[in-house]
Amino acid sequence: MTSAANDIEFRSVSKRYGAVTAVSDINLAVPRGAFVALLGPSGCGKTTCLRMIGGFEHPSEGEVFVGGSPMNGVPAYRRPVNMVFQQYALFPHFDVENNVAYGLKQLRPRLTAAEISRRVREALEMVRLGGFAKRRIHEMSGGQQQRVALARALVNKPQVLLLDEPLAALDKKLRTAMQFELQSLQRELGITFVLVTHDQEEALSMSDLVCVMNAGRIRQLASPKEIYDHPADLFVADFVGKTNRLPATVDPATGSVTLGNGRTLATARARAMSAGAATVALRPEVIRLARPTAANGALLEGTVTHRIFLGSSAEYSISVPGLGDLLVTAERHGTAESDLVEPGETVAMNFDPGEAHIFPA
Ligand SMILES: Nc1ncnc2c1ncn2[C@@H]1O[C@H](COP(=O)(O)OP(=O)(O)OP(=O)(O)O)[C@@H](O)[C@H]1O
Ligand SMILES: [Mg+2]
Repeated sequence: MTSAANDIEFRSVSKRYGAVTAVSDINLAVPRGAFVALLGPSGCGKTTCLRMIGGFEHPSEGEVFVGGSPMNGVPAYRRPVNMVFQQYALFPHFDVENNVAYGLKQLRPRLTAAEISRRVREALEMVRLGGFAKRRIHEMSGGQQQRVALARALVNKPQVLLLDEPLAALDKKLRTAMQFELQSLQRELGITFVLVTHDQEEALSMSDLVCVMNAGRIRQLASPKEIYDHPADLFVADFVGKTNRLPATVDPATGSVTLGNGRTLATARARAMSAGAATVALRPEVIRLARPTAANGALLEGTVTHRIFLGSSAEYSISVPGLGDLLVTAERHGTAESDLVEPGETVAMNFDPGEAHIFPA
């Protein structure tokens, strides 16, 4: 048995397809009622993990638990789980009602027609398609079809809902609207959602827990804030949000990190690292820009090469001798043109050493 507080658990799960290792020794625990996002680049094993929860694939090694019970040998249709597939296949010539009812009609013992119709109505209400029961699929927009697929997965009240890139086909605006809807639906129903996405903004904004994967392995499992503020490694720092990577050297004896431009940061973290080459990861928004003065002894100095105006903020590319090109985002505090640093200008830059993440090179 496993802790009943976990709706999903992977214990040392690997999945191989012939010579390809799709998932490699994954351990994962998802608390009941959580919204977890599996985030990672194409081919990293996200769909494979989802399919092993759903029962459409079986681990080569290890065990998957759902609702506290081991799923070895439990077929997909007996699992308390439903899945919205990456290519959600609706029946184009059926109306909405019949698409949603399809799974319920397969259940044995049979449900009464009244019960099926009641449940379908309820599922359609949940996805705000109450008035669309008789509409045919090919007469609906992409976003509406997406919601029919969702209703079809919700209709038999799964304990766990698996969503494989459910919003990938939608335009930006509809996608944002559906993100809000999915999130409030999950809160209302209180069931566990596992959402697969390769969009880091979507993962950060929607979920309670983000599981960052690469090459079949979990790199970090934590809250969105923790993932963004304290990435476990350089892969996570790069994949989630934007990051500057500065070459540096660590001296644990003095607790200092010397950047490629010769400037030194004192940071307690360096004491716990081994001596030698390292990479300092810095978010673009933690770097403060100033006009250089003889007195300000900046950590970084460089020349602005590009500026992208973004309304309330501006994004700069700044060339720093010894460090390469840095990306810096700066909020604008006023509307004056003088807030903006111009391409060609020399700028001084500082940051709080506590905001720098240091990883072995
Ligand atoms: N049936 C299969 N046979 C052989 N290899 C497979 C099979 N299914 C997946 N793979 C391989 O396993 C790896 C993981 O695939 P998976 O579909 O889980 O990736 P993913 O993270 O969902 O990617 P995407 O974001 O592109 O959907 C890939 O290298 C893929 O080529
Ligand atoms: Mg996939």
